[in-house]
Formats: sequence, C-alpha cells, structure tokens
Amino acid sequence: IKKLEDFYKKSAKPMDKIFSRNKDVDEKERTILKRIKELREILTLHNYNYYVLNQPTISDFEFDKILDELIKLEEENHEFFDTSSPTQRVGSDISQEFTQSQHKYPMLSLSNTYSIDEVNEFENRITKLTAETPQYVCELKYDGTSISLTYKEGKLIMALTRGDGIQGDNVTENVKTIRSIPLNLKGKDYPKEFEIRGEILMPFSVFNQLNKERTNKFANPRNAAAGTIKQQKSSVVAKRKLDCFLYYIPGDQLEGLSHWDKLNKAKEWGFKISEATKLCKSISEVKEYIEYWDKARKELPVPIDGIVIKVNSTKQQNELGFTSKSPRWATAYKFKAERVESQLLSIDYQVGRTGTVTPVANLRPVHIAGTTVKRASLHNADIISKLDLYINDYVYIEKGGEIIPKIVGINTKKRPKKADKVNFIEYCPECHTLLIRKEGEANHYCPNDKGCLPQIKGKIEHFISRKAMNIDGMGKEIIELLLSKRLVNNIADIYDLASKKDKLIGLEKVMYPDNYEIIDIPIEDIDYAFEIGYKGITKKNAKILTDKYVSLEKLSNTNRQELEAIPDLIFPKDADLYHTKILEYFNTPFNEVLERLKEGDNKHGGIPLSNVIYALCIPGIDKKCAENITEYYDYIYDISKATKSELLKCVQINEEKADSLIAWFKKNEKFISKINNLSIFRIQKQSAEKLIYSIEYSLNRTFSRTLNALGIRHIGETASRNLANYFKNIDKLMTANYEELIEIEDIGDQMAKSIIDYFAIEENIQIINRLKNAGIQFNISTTEGSNSNILDNKKFVITGTLSKGREYFKELIISMGGKVSGSISSKTDYLLAGKNAGSKLDNANKAGVPLLTEDDFYNLINKE
Ligand code: IVH
Repeated sequence: IKKLEDFYKKSAKPMDKIFSRNKDVDEKERTILKRIKELREILTLHNYNYYVLNQPTISDFEFDKILDELIKLEEENHEFFDTSSPTQRVGSDISQEFTQSQHKYPMLSLSNTYSIDEVNEFENRITKLTAETPQYVCELKYDGTSISLTYKEGKLIMALTRGDGIQGDNVTENVKTIRSIPLNLKGKDYPKEFEIRGEILMPFSVFNQLNKERTNKFANPRNAAAGTIKQQKSSVVAKRKLDCFLYYIPGDQLEGLSHWDKLNKAKEWGFKISEATKLCKSISEVKEYIEYWDKARKELPVPIDGIVIKVNSTKQQNELGFTSKSPRWATAYKFKAERVESQLLSIDYQVGRTGTVTPVANLRPVHIAGTTVKRASLHNADIISKLDLYINDYVYIEKGGEIIPKIVGINTKKRPKKADKVNFIEYCPECHTLLIRKEGEANHYCPNDKGCLPQIKGKIEHFISRKAMNIDGMGKEIIELLLSKRLVNNIADIYDLASKKDKLIGLEKVMYPDNYEIIDIPIEDIDYAFEIGYKGITKKNAKILTDKYVSLEKLSNTNRQELEAIPDLIFPKDADLYHTKILEYFNTPFNEVLERLKEGDNKHGGIPLSNVIYALCIPGIDKKCAENITEYYDYIYDISKATKSELLKCVQINEEKADSLIAWFKKNEKFISKINNLSIFRIQKQSAEKLIYSIEYSLNRTFSRTLNALGIRHIGETASRNLANYFKNIDKLMTANYEELIEIEDIGDQMAKSIIDYFAIEENIQIINRLKNAGIQFNISTTEGSNSNILDNKKFVITGTLSKGREYFKELIISMGGKVSGSISSKTDYLLAGKNAGSKLDNANKAGVPLLTEDDFYNLINKE
C-alpha cells in the first residue's frame, strides 16, 4: 500500500499544491473569494427552493446568469475550486469507472406484507417484544434505487449504491448532479460525520420524455433511475432530472431522537423528506394511511409500490433489533399489482435472434398507469395449454413493476360460445420452415438459421459486436435498414458494402421501439400540437406550462396571477396580451377538443392514443371508433400514413369513415409532425463513411476475434482463443477431426461436434472464402502469437481508477494469455490497482497478493 501511495503521490498534479496555498491570498483574491462564496450561497438557496420545496422564486434565466458568473470566476481562480460548489451539479463528460466501498452499516431490505392481516401480525410481533405501546411512522415506499449518502462536516463526501448490501459502487459524482440532494448542509447541529439513506427516483414525466427519445427504452422508472445513476458520464446524469427522498439515518449519533424527530432534523439540514410521511399513534391510523395511499398513489408524479411502517421510538427499535436480512422494527406493505381485464384478440409469434419462437398475445388495449397495454408475452406452448386459452377469451392481465405484462388467468364465465382453442403454429412466421421442438425443451424453434430474417439479424449483430469484429458504425438501425433493403443477407456481404456506398446514403426507416406497452403521448406534445392555451403556442411554452401544471385539468384552472408568476414563459412582445389569450382560451364555455382530451388525462403526464384520436373531432369518428383504430395502430404517425384498404381492416371503419380519416390527415400534416413521437432514422453521408471505415478497420482483427465472430454454436470468446492459439490458422481448424478437437484445453464434446457440423456446411465454407478474399485474418498474427503467453494463465484482479477503462486492461491481459476475475482469492496472482482502490486492495493485502501499479504492469508485460 505504501508503494502505491508513493506512486500516486509522485504523479499527483501540481494543482494539488495550489489548493493548500491559502496563507498568502492577497486582497484582490479575498474579494473574489467573497463573491464566489456569496454566489454559491445564492445558488444553493435557489436550488433548495426549487428542488426541495418546489417553490422557485427566480426564473431559470436569472439562475443561469448567476451560475455563469460563478463558473467564470471559478475557472479564472482555480485555487478556490470546491468539490461541493453548485457548479459541480452539471456533471462532467469524462467517463468514470466506479470503485467499490464498504457500507458502514449494511444496507438491509425490508420484510414485506401484502394484506391487512399481515400488518396485524407485524403489530402483534412488535407488541410482544416491547413493553410500551408503539407509535409508528408511515412513509411512502418509493420505487427507485436506494442510496447511502455520507456527510462529513456538513459536506457530502460519498454516495454509495446498495450493491450487495455490504459494499456498493461509489457514485458520488453522479449523485452530486441531483439537485434535491444538498452538497452542503444548513444549520449547525448535524453530527460531524453521518450517513443518511434514501431513494433516488425518476418522476413519471421525466421517464416518459426520456423514453420518447430512446430506441432502447427503459421498462419502468425504477430501471431508468438505476441505469442513470450508474452512467459513466455525470453530465448525462445531470440531464436526467432525478429526484431523491431521504428516509433513514442509521447509527447512533442522534441518540435520544425518535425516527420522526430525526427526519425533521434532516429536513432542517436541507434534505428532501416526503410531505406524505406521517406519525401514527396507533395501528388503526396506519391502516387508514394504507387505505388512503392505495388510492391516492395514482395521482402521484413519482412511482411508489407500497408504504413503509416503522416503529418510531429509537429505544424500541434497539430492543427489536434486526434479523440477518431486515429490521424487526419496520415492514413494507406492498400494494397489489394492478390487475385489469381485457380480451385476447389474436396471437403473434415472434422469432428471436436464435430462432426461438415466442407467442405474444394481442389484447384489446387497456390503460394502466401511464401506458396502454395491448400485448402480453405467453412464453411458450406449455403456458398456453396450461392456461387453456381460447381466442376471444377475456383474460386478466397483471402489470407490476416487471418488464412484461402477464396474462394471469381467464374469466371463463365470459368465454364466447364460438371460441377457438389456441393451437401453437407449426411453421415459422418469418420463413415458413417447419418448426422444431426438442425433447424436454419448452420452446419451439426455427432451424433455418441462414434464411430466416431475425436469425440473420442475430448473426450480424454478433459478428459486428465489440468482442467480435468491433464494427462500431453499424448500429441496430443500420443493420435493420441493410437487411430490409436486402443490401446484406449474410456476414460476408458486409465486406461488399464499400462498393455500394452511394446506395447507403439517404436510406431511411421509421424506428419503432420494441416494447410491450405503448407509452401515453406526453401532455407537452399534446399542448403543442393541439395549440392549447393560444394559437401557435411554441414548443418551449407548451413545455413550461405542462411542467408547471402536469394535467390539463389543472392547467385549465389557471389564473392571471399564476401565469404571471411562471418565471420562464416566453412572450417576446407582450406578456399581458398572451396571458389574456391563455385565460380566454380556458374560459371558452365549451371547448370540445379540450373536454375530449381531458377524458384521457391521467396523472402521469400523458394521454392515451385513443383519447387523442377522439379529440381530433374527425367527422364520423366517435370514441368507440377511435378505440378500435388503436387496436391496430400504436402510433398516430402510422394512422396518418395508412391507406384506405389498411384502415378498412379496423373494426367499425367503413368506406365513409376511412375517407373522412384520410381527408383529415391530409389537411393536417403539420399537426402530425408536431405530435409524432416516432423518430425517422436516415443514413447520412458521414455515417456511411464511418461505417465503411469501421468495416475496413475490422480487417485487422485478430484470428481469435474473427473466429468468435463467426458465431459457431457453443464457441464463445474463450473457446475461440484456445482454438486460435492451438491451430494458428483456419485451414487447420477446418480439417481437424473430433478426437483432435477434444484434446484441446476447455473444448468438450458439444463444442467439438458443433465445430465439425459448422464446417460440414458448404455455405459456411463459401462465406469463409469470401471473408478471406475480403482480407480478413484467418491466421494468428506474429504479435498475437508471440504475446499470447506472456501472462500464461496468470490470474488478475483489477481495481481503482486507472488511466484507461478497466475493459482495456482486461482485454490486454486476456490477449496475453492471462485471466481476470472480479474478486480476490487464494488463486489470484496480481492485483492491478489504480487510484482510490477500496476493499479489494485491503483483501489483496490480507491475502498477500502482490500489487501492481500501472507502471509495474507495463514493466511486467514488456519484459520479454
Ligand atoms: S427503510 C433498514 N423507507 O425499499 C431499513 N426503505 O425493501 C431501510 N424504500 O432498500 C429501508 N422507500 O430502497 C425505507 N420510505 C422508505 C423506503 C424504502 C423505498 C426501498 C429501499 C429499500 C427497500 C426495502
């Protein structure tokens, strides 16, 4: 450890020295410092007003002006840099690697209860174990990702994720961008050093907006919050507008205070404590709280999945103690997953990248909490027969926090008389090959791996992936385009693309998200496209208004005073006039469009597509018609592009109605472009060039990577490396027999057979020949060969912050025959340790594992 410290001390930047040069600050600097401190205080106060109290007193514009002044002063006066300055909230573009640290107190979970009976049992257990009648604090159970914050001398010094409960990732830089988390505490009576725990959340409105912009959508706000807090760039986190409620201070520094008192103290220090938190004098008050929030939760702007009941007295908490998993003094009451009834309309069969066929139920659209569910996975043929499913059955659907809505049962009483039993398909819906189901396996699969589109796509995705050919200009969108235009039919075709560059440029495709639920159309887009408020409302103003009011109902009840107080509404000429216009708009006695929209206004910042279509007031299209249209269509853009014959497929849509729809959409193209939430992907000249460059660059990949890229069944990264090292070129591998193959390290029976099968297929040989002609390396190169055993089987663990990402060092070690594992054991040969190494360094030290700095490491690998 001493050696490591010395090493990093030597490499420390001169800036470190500047920080400690405080004594000789001259007069001018003193005034600058004073101003910097003043600006920091002003910004901290406004941050608090806005993000903790939800009561901003200045506009974003004014805030930014003050922030800019501070940024400038800090840039010009590095010596006054402070890690907890409000300027640090914008994050950084530098990619970080997370180090792990031990939790001072383990992060436990809570026991769960699912019924009032179970709550009674909880209370019985408590009263048996404590003498005095307990009081309870009830809190909302926020559905995000938990965080543990450490404050020292009132400054946030560390933020750890839960991890495995014992140690978590250090995500301090990311957490600093969350504006409701104080970087400096208010007041004076906080402990010198303490931890406080809470939940990082993504509000529904942020989640919906974020997902709208992403092709790779998050399944729910919880995943989005957890994914965001682990982002490598803190500047990305800063843009995602996370929030954080605090709910627990572990440890005994606040001795004598009850849980309720501690939370109130924390509130004084500037933490965001939920307004919903309540001190209940008896268990019956707890039950009232549960009942109230089970209904009221639907109106909350953030996700919760239950409530938490905690014994208030710290003395009693100590008496009750903990089990190995959770405190005995608290429990969570989990709300039931929302269950709705819908009708099974048909079944689609999806073919995956590996040929597996998954049945998916198409349902009559039902609306649950911010999304419209119209599909549910049925997994496989066994599940269908177990359910005993008939087409047109009324089914129960559950949507909990999980990714895919599930069919959990059938309302058999409602089964129509003439219903047909669901029979699993026999032929592949993509390529019409007879499906296969192997003995003992639950899934059907399509064996036509070379001619079946989704399977070709899977092969290409693997071929270009980072651990294979690493062609990084070839994203999902480009692959889909190339396949649909038949520019690529197999992996070898990729190397013909250079000659087709002109055909690539300008290709375009509408990008559909591949999720099971359709997210409601955000109110701000509705506001903008329907011009709610005043004719020609700008996108920016629509956003500001809906950010402030969230629902159309609330927006409609606005008044002049409130409008005047919204700091950022932009009216370049005459604000008064526009305020009057907005008020007039909402005071019109009956606004058909607005009333229809309001019918679909949920409290999550969106409106379902069917309500939006209904609100278009297209002649002949009533509410029922609009609903029927959304059985077929998920996006308004697609409806606007549909032909008459396509529209006629919708139930209840006759010639007259189809004509009416077409005429309306023809007249309102601008509306569609304003409300459209599908993105159109287009290959630009630059991206075509980048693609062709990356393809060419991939010719340099090593033999083992290329072998991995071929996607031979069961032959992954390690097997490819072993095979490449053993055979040195592909011709020898192609002619190897079974006996020879199973002799090789880590190559077993299944792999050997798979290799033989692969090279027995003429088409595969042709593809390899074409790849060879394109210039791909099918030989082990001199560098690859000579390096390959320097680290022969040496086992490494990597920790701390190194000059390049861990993945880089991992690849380097592996390419030289070494191995990398995640934790120290008796078998570890070296710990490669960077700055801020945590528990792994301690463990290595205990186990006597030699430590390497980056320099040591380079010396080691260059010694031969
Ligand atoms: S208290 C020792 N309070 O639920 C007690 N947890 O299943 C620590 N959660 O990991 C937890 N809201 O992420 C507590 N008001 C609340 C909560 C809450 C959400 C989460 C938290 C915890 C999980 C337990």
